[in-house]
Amino acid sequence: MKAWSGRFDKTTDALTDALNASISFDSRMYEEDITGSIAHAGMLGAQGIIEQEEADKIIECLKEILEDIKAGKVEFTEENEDIHMNIEAILTERIGDTGKRLHTARSRNDQVALDIRLYLKKEIAAIRESAISLLETIVKKAEGGKDVIMPAYTHLQRAQPTTFAHYMMAYANMLRRDITRLEDCLERMDEMPLGSGALTSTTYPIDRRRVAAELGFARITENSIDGVSDRDFALELMSDLSIMMMHLSRFSEEIVLWCSWEFKFVELDDAFATGSSIMPQKKNPDIAELVRGKTGRVYGSLVTLLTVMKALPLAYNKDMQEDKEPVFDAVDTVRACLPVFTAMLDTMTLLPENMRAAAGKGFINATDCADYLVKKGMPFRDAYKIVGMLVNYCIKNNKTLEALTIEEYNAMSDVFSSDVYDYINLENCVNSRIAEGGPSQKSVEAQIASMKAFLNDRK
Ligand code: ARG
Repeated sequence: MKAWSGRFDKTTDALTDALNASISFDSRMYEEDITGSIAHAGMLGAQGIIEQEEADKIIECLKEILEDIKAGKVEFTEENEDIHMNIEAILTERIGDTGKRLHTARSRNDQVALDIRLYLKKEIAAIRESAISLLETIVKKAEGGKDVIMPAYTHLQRAQPTTFAHYMMAYANMLRRDITRLEDCLERMDEMPLGSGALTSTTYPIDRRRVAAELGFARITENSIDGVSDRDFALELMSDLSIMMMHLSRFSEEIVLWCSWEFKFVELDDAFATGSSIMPQKKNPDIAELVRGKTGRVYGSLVTLLTVMKALPLAYNKDMQEDKEPVFDAVDTVRACLPVFTAMLDTMTLLPENMRAAAGKGFINATDCADYLVKKGMPFRDAYKIVGMLVNYCIKNNKTLEALTIEEYNAMSDVFSSDVYDYINLENCVNSRIAEGGPSQKSVEAQIASMKAFLNDRK
């Protein structure tokens, strides 16, 4: 029988039950639900709202139910709709009337708001840990690629030379922001909503701060209507996860490119690649492709919940039950992607000769060649034009800037002398970019040191 059956003359239709029930997906919050109920019952007892003895009995039984669920000994029913009513029903089944006192001064509206927050706080902590491991791995890869010259691209056209270390530190910076975004999100959602009741709190002399402290929240929500209506913490998390996945999808895309014969900058470990059912020669970067693909799924979850929440009047509406599947899916997806991406990256081998060879083609030292003339006194626009003509000449004669004779240089401008070869040497091009943030050994080392300090603060 439904807890709320008193007001009704008929039982619900089976179709109603099927659509209404959320137990199939919210049962995963059983631990949070029980933990919240234990804190609530303890507070009810301490405040004399129910007898202390009854509170103790409820708490003891809730602990047993938790153990039984973990041991797989409990079956939830659709009849009881959701995890909240299922647990309350089991409690009442086990200890009778005392169990019926648990829901005093509480509503499922503040209960579910509490449970999701507790659940997501835990998930954010786990995602953050995985993201930190990935960041450590990126830094490790950077350290292994300090001398590896590679082309950096704009428009996917070879643009200027850099090092693999400098390239990796770009992703490190993105991930560092992703991690701090999660930390900010956690800080903002660290508010305990219980005591909001259905929407306008309660007439009982509850102690919300006690419950918040027991459950490890930094604060309580300040307004009871907001406390049960707000899902922006879940939206913020999904936004943060979407941005993180966007970064991972770019990284994945580059790994897919780098694995192709057209690039061959890296080789994935066999444990993180797959074969083809028909083409014997294939070694496919499926993990990177899946991370790239699953990014769409996380965006989808964000858009789903944004759309569910759009224009909902305050306070609770059943629409909000639709928050859980997208949030859980986004969290599960990110949790599944991060460790395997990290392991794939960690075991990825660099092919420095191929990167260096690619850097040798495409005139990626043309900017440096122009800068050479500028440093000899020529205005940049003139220098730029002369080097453009040199590149044009090289393309037509199948040469590189390094391979031109000094006579060929001087045919374009007599400002060139033999020191130009040193100037356009790729290693020199990289190492003379000593500006903070640039690819020179010194600049990259500073970037790595900053990232290590960030990681150290989080140990
Ligand atoms: N299963 C519901 C949810 O996830 C719990 C809250 C139900 N509240 C209500 N007033 N029907 O949203």
